[in-house]
Amino acid sequence: MNSNHDSFARHRRLRQSAPLRKLVRETTITTSDLMYPLFVVEGEGVYKEVSSMPGVFHVSLDHLDAELEKLRHLGVLSIMLFGVPEAKDSVGTEAYADGGIVQRAIKHIKAFDSNFVIAADTCLCQYTDHGHCGIVRDGVIENDESLELLAKTAVSQARAGADIIAPSNMMDGFVTAIRHALDEEGFSHVPIMSYAVKYASSFYGPFRDAAHSTPQFGDRKTYQMDPANRVEAIREMESDIEEGADFFIIKPALSYLDIIREANDRFPVPLVAYNVSGEYSMIKAASANGWIDEQAVVMEMLTSMKRAGASIIITYFAKDVATYLREENGGGAQ
Ligand code: PBG
Repeated sequence: MNSNHDSFARHRRLRQSAPLRKLVRETTITTSDLMYPLFVVEGEGVYKEVSSMPGVFHVSLDHLDAELEKLRHLGVLSIMLFGVPEAKDSVGTEAYADGGIVQRAIKHIKAFDSNFVIAADTCLCQYTDHGHCGIVRDGVIENDESLELLAKTAVSQARAGADIIAPSNMMDGFVTAIRHALDEEGFSHVPIMSYAVKYASSFYGPFRDAAHSTPQFGDRKTYQMDPANRVEAIREMESDIEEGADFFIIKPALSYLDIIREANDRFPVPLVAYNVSGEYSMIKAASANGWIDEQAVVMEMLTSMKRAGASIIITYFAKDVATYLREENGGGAQ
């Protein structure tokens, strides 16, 4: 060893000052990485906070413009749309009705500003009276029968103007069924962002409050994945890509960063992490109690998702993060 050199590495050299740390930073979050989940409801005059998700609202169409104005002002132009219908039945009719709440909301948003990128969640659970993501016969979820209705739902969403179809139902073959139906109906240009890997997670609890989609019997374990499985996730991703998914979602995100990394190493498509409701509500609750620094924890959490390999993050924190980033940049647009 030369006497001018230490016999150990000086990692701290690159950590000396904030500007230097910023210069060598490997992972950053920008507003355009974020997609904001929006819950649209029937009726008028509704702007109602979801009790288990402070800061998240049920919005009726007549209150949508104010929400869209806020999002546009913050530069959050990607939306994941969820509908909360008034009427439910055994076959989820409102999911694929041309006058359904999501279909009307899509038209409304596109008319407000066509620059919004709208992903429509394609699932039946908010629309079925039993709360499952597919058709139920004698207590059994019927895979292939469900595909037809999911394909119909996707086509009606595309017809309304959805930019992205985001099927979250976890039936087998849903990408094939939806891709064929879209192509046949003249929507070959509409991409599918599948929930290739969706675990049967307890972190969805607050969402089910928000979307009124708690299953009325049993659970979702015959279609959503066992949280203990990694190899199975790879099989799910492989089949979705083969079936024609353009990109895919891994959900939840925080407890599944290893799966995001694995996906990033294997599949050359944009990866989407879904920072789910439970991950949101835990932080909000701890923050309300003064136990954590909310902004710092949110940024650390979302950074970990990008570092793991996600390029897009669906998050209820999108507006908060866009606000932090604007403040950091002296109020200018991102
Ligand atoms: C519907 C759906 C769920 C979520 C998104 N789409 C709930 C579920 O499968 O039970 C969860 C989103 C969240 O928790 O933020 N299939």
